[in-house]
Amino acid sequence: MKRIPVLAGNWKMNKTPTEAADLAKTFAASLGDVTAAEVVLCPPFVALLTVQAAIKGTRLGLGAQNLHWEKSGAYTGEISAPMLAGWCTHVIIGHSERRQYFGETDETVNKKVKAALASGLTPIVCVGETLTQYEAGETAEVVKRQTWAAYTDLSAADAARTVIAYEPVWAIGTGKAATGAGANSVIGIQIRGTIGALFGSGTAEGLRIRYGGSVTPANITEFMIQPDIDGGLVGGASLKSADFEAIVQSAIKAKGS
Ligand code: PGA
Repeated sequence: MKRIPVLAGNWKMNKTPTEAADLAKTFAASLGDVTAAEVVLCPPFVALLTVQAAIKGTRLGLGAQNLHWEKSGAYTGEISAPMLAGWCTHVIIGHSERRQYFGETDETVNKKVKAALASGLTPIVCVGETLTQYEAGETAEVVKRQTWAAYTDLSAADAARTVIAYEPVWAIGTGKAATGAGANSVIGIQIRGTIGALFGSGTAEGLRIRYGGSVTPANITEFMIQPDIDGGLVGGASLKSADFEAIVQSAIKAKGS
């Protein structure tokens, strides 16, 4: 089954609203009109509006980096799915930095995935093992558990509206990326396999799963030539317009689309 490559830039806690708009404008202008891949920019909450204005009229998607599962209420500092719906297209859920520093659990990830879907947003569901888990040989178990938990009580139709990012925590921001073959195996066997067990092989085959963790223009091809890897979630390198553009172009070329 043909899966359109999907690449997202996770800007994390970087860029003011003005800086983010400038970066988005530069990136949109140099990338031009790309149809062979879905490209999404995920700035901080406060920069979503300025980035939306900067990419107006382009095919670029706009993603938030988190949300709360409740629709509204007394949750100081939180942002809900209905607040993002209709103008944002995507939302990152369960990023390892949120699991590690902000108490995100498998259970809250599941609630957030459901909230995003109920508001018509595409969840970018993140899973991945820590260095300790990797060294203890627990990658398969951890990734399977996180995937299973995130998709608990979803319908196959809802699952098909999500995308997944496999991000080994030891590879994020460390300059020490996984190997293409290693990431492909985890994605194909553990993640696609789990989705298949939950929803059937049709849903699993159609779902786009990308790799994240120290993706650069130099290594993106190694990932994209793998049969089970459909894109990248890019942190540091997405903060440089030329680098992110090179990543998108190489990804498209590698998939021959
Ligand atoms: P990195 O981050 O590309 O800087 O390693 C990836 C991510 O955390 O999504």
